[in-house]
Amino acid sequence: MEWIEIGGLDDIPRRGARTVETASGPVAVFRTADDTVFALINKCPHRGGPLSEGIVSGKLVACPMHNWVIDLESGEAAAPDKGCTPALPVRIEDGRLWLGLDAARRVAHG
Ligand code: FES
Repeated sequence: MEWIEIGGLDDIPRRGARTVETASGPVAVFRTADDTVFALINKCPHRGGPLSEGIVSGKLVACPMHNWVIDLESGEAAAPDKGCTPALPVRIEDGRLWLGLDAARRVAHG
């Protein structure tokens, strides 16, 4: 697993997200109201909407396109919708964020 530093926790608004470019395309890094961070490939499993522009509530994000609700931890769409967007590991150390890139590479190579 390769970890890359992607800035500070404070670079992400609470209940919001920012995007990070990777070899596999943009990754959305979310911050919840209680300062937990999650990372998902920035594509809704429905029609590829930008999840980074959605509204975070709890550990869920609502896609801005058609309101599918995606679990930030697993990337799974909430029932009755079906689909999953890949999740990437992200960790906080001394207020700095690190993104784990193995998963992104796997996505890139199918
Ligand atoms: S593209 Fe996300 S709900 Fe349709």
